[in-house]
Amino acid sequence: MPIRTRAAIIRQSPGEYETVELELDDPRQNEVTVKLTASGLCHSDDHLQTGDMVLGHYPMCGGHEGAGVVTAVGPHTPGYEVGDHVVFSFLPACGKCAACSRGQFNLCDTGANTLVGSRADDVSSFRMHLDGEDVGQMAGISTFAEYTTAHVDSVVRIPKDIPLKEAALVGCGVPTGWGSATNMAGIEPGHTVIVMGVGGIGINAVQGARHAGATTVIAVDPVPFKREKAQEFGATHSFADIAEATTFAQSITEGQGADSAIVTVGVTTGEHVGQAVAAIRKGGTVVLTGVGKMAEVGIPVSPFEMVMMQKRIQGAIYGGNSPHDVIPRLLRMYQAGQLKLEELITKEYTLDEVAQGYRDMHAGTNIRGIVVYE
Ligand SMILES: NC(=O)c1ccc[n+]([C@@H]2O[C@H](COP(=O)([O-])OP(=O)(O)OC[C@H]3O[C@@H](n4cnc5c(N)ncnc54)[C@H](O)[C@@H]3O)[C@@H](O)[C@H]2O)c1
Ligand SMILES: [Zn+2]
Ligand SMILES: [Zn+2]
Repeated sequence: MPIRTRAAIIRQSPGEYETVELELDDPRQNEVTVKLTASGLCHSDDHLQTGDMVLGHYPMCGGHEGAGVVTAVGPHTPGYEVGDHVVFSFLPACGKCAACSRGQFNLCDTGANTLVGSRADDVSSFRMHLDGEDVGQMAGISTFAEYTTAHVDSVVRIPKDIPLKEAALVGCGVPTGWGSATNMAGIEPGHTVIVMGVGGIGINAVQGARHAGATTVIAVDPVPFKREKAQEFGATHSFADIAEATTFAQSITEGQGADSAIVTVGVTTGEHVGQAVAAIRKGGTVVLTGVGKMAEVGIPVSPFEMVMMQKRIQGAIYGGNSPHDVIPRLLRMYQAGQLKLEELITKEYTLDEVAQGYRDMHAGTNIRGIVVYE
């Protein structure tokens, strides 16, 4: 029997999240229904409000960073039971497509309908409905809902002794930022790393850079509170803008520049990337993790400089991680006291306060806001 659930949806972009009661389908084969415990307020769901990211279907139920408890399991769906604790991965991983077969699970073909919100194998198949109209599910999971139904490729079972509120954050922000540093930046012990933009993603790039062995981690953010937080998470220095950070990095590397720079600005532009390229040394790497206007084209860098200095710009989705590998791994690190999770949460919200949570994000008062369900 389909159930009714409250959920935060967006009807158009630009637009604002509003709470509605919608109809949620039962899980089909290889699907589960989950009662959400918590959902992080990642900037990517705000791109839907501003229209930076244009969706393939409206209305859309937002949210892609969540955790909860399985309440129903589809027929012939082995490996899952009612009562299982799960973290959602914002990218599904099928294990069989060309990308998965290469070991690039974060590039799985089944992620293609992420911004349509239908099932991966059938673009016309939706699990949420409002007054007879199909509602998309952000990333196929839509964690801004009391209950959601998702494919098991987007679901990672976790041990029951891990608090679900903190676990929600390893659905997107933590692995994305951490992996941007540990997998994508080529950090080696002793390196100097710049992290540009200290929100929910950048703060985890700071943690990741320290884990990867960086000696100097330079955080850049115009908001003083963000710079303070960065120091608590392992940044050794912090600056309000990238020009100051670049000058400092050069001053401690005999003029060479940072070994790598990770761009995690909320609304990333080509200009930000150009600034990061100017901050790194010969042979250095810029990791591009932040996103901005989908339609924007162009990065102001000198092709000549790229060649002569052999610099690299590396795009990074999900920090280059394999979701089913990284989520349990990060949670083990959390349990061992090696990874900060509670400290990421600045403020808790109800489902009705999603839009307010994003206003606070823009005001610069949150590292991560989180919706907590009853
Ligand atoms: N690639 C991926 O897999 C992936 C996954 C999740 C999120 N993202 C993207 O990462 C970005 C960051 O997300 P978030 O949730 O951390 O956002 P956020 O809004 O919490 O943080 C962004 C930070 O950038 C700072 N900032 C703004 N302008 C700046 C500038 N010129 N220099 C330095 N800092 C500046 C802001 O003050 C803020 O602290 C977003 O674009 C988001 O969509 C990418
Ligand atoms: Zn996210
Ligand atoms: Zn795949």
